[in-house]
Amino acid sequence: MKKHLLPYFCITVLVASCSSSNAEQIPTVKDHFKDDFLIGAALPVRHVDGMDPKADSIVTLHFNSIVAENCMKNEKIQPEEGKFFWDDADKFVKYGEDRDMAIIGHALVWHSQLAPWFTKDAVGNEVSPDVLKQRMKDHIYAVVGRYKGKIKGWDVVNEAIVDDGSYRNSPFYRILGEDYIPLAFQYAHEADPDAELYINDFSMFLPEKREAYVKIVNDLKKRGIRIDGIGMQSHIGMDYPEFDEYEKSIVAFGNTGCDVMITELDMSALPTIEKGADIGAIFRMTPEERREALKKFNVYPDGLPEDVSKEWNDRMAQVFALYKKHSDKISRVTWWGTTDGMSWKNGFPIPGRTDYPLLFDREYNMKPFMQKIIENLE
Ligand code: XIL
Repeated sequence: MKKHLLPYFCITVLVASCSSSNAEQIPTVKDHFKDDFLIGAALPVRHVDGMDPKADSIVTLHFNSIVAENCMKNEKIQPEEGKFFWDDADKFVKYGEDRDMAIIGHALVWHSQLAPWFTKDAVGNEVSPDVLKQRMKDHIYAVVGRYKGKIKGWDVVNEAIVDDGSYRNSPFYRILGEDYIPLAFQYAHEADPDAELYINDFSMFLPEKREAYVKIVNDLKKRGIRIDGIGMQSHIGMDYPEFDEYEKSIVAFGNTGCDVMITELDMSALPTIEKGADIGAIFRMTPEERREALKKFNVYPDGLPEDVSKEWNDRMAQVFALYKKHSDKISRVTWWGTTDGMSWKNGFPIPGRTDYPLLFDREYNMKPFMQKIIENLE
């Protein structure tokens, strides 16, 4: 069930207008949705390091939840066996604590951005099930344990299922089979019994993925294993998903009793090269194919044409109307970044594009669809 959002309310922001002495109330995104869901942003290390002060002001004002864009991923936090790198993750957590935000940890078990040693032995062969279990346990205990009581919830398992609904052939699956999922949740719960635990994936609007995740979650629950949320990444585009399929997934996930979370929202304004967010897509293209794709698919390098911008804003307004409609099920909507200029979509699935997928543009202006919503002009 949805947790009460009250602790994360912001204090109403009052600023003195420059031109008059009257205090003026600025509507904020987090305030607008305070009875609906948390509003989150993924933060890169440079943000937490104070290298983007304007983005810092935006996040502090408009968001009440943050997630680590990269610094808590396996290869960053345990690059070598037993050698943890905590500096960035510590700073990230402190950033959220200082602002009284709901801090989300991402991600404990994921085939991508996984340190190469993690699933291999000294000669490069995959380790035995017992060794991998121990490594998963040590990793999860160390990372979750360090931030016990500070992190509201963890993406425990990320991207376990492929588009046809079958298990991804990740090293975790190859070595441990389906069991790696319940094991990961069990270890995370042992490490911090109060933390919420989530399963997360992209293209959750696909019926096959919907079905697979409903089964996984129901199985975990039947076995008495804690799971609190289903994360729908929601890296979407102008031509996908179809809203009725997206909605069916929100409803089906909500019906499991888990919170539904929109965990990595962005909507590319560019022609779709590849639906979904499979990071491996980058490596499937030859350099020549990438050059060709860049010519063909980097269509607005100098700014978004007005008609496309309008289309983007209209579609996003519909997306948020859907979230609002299901706010009894959705507990958090997190954008995968703050401003267009820093979005990972400029580099995915091919590097070098200029995309426009986030809530704030390159000049730090809020996109019109959201301005209208928070100023109640809809
Ligand atoms: C992305 C980051 O935004 C990039 O900076 C990084 O180079 C690759 O990963 N699904 C996820 C996220 O769960 O962790 C990914 O983040 C985007 C897709």
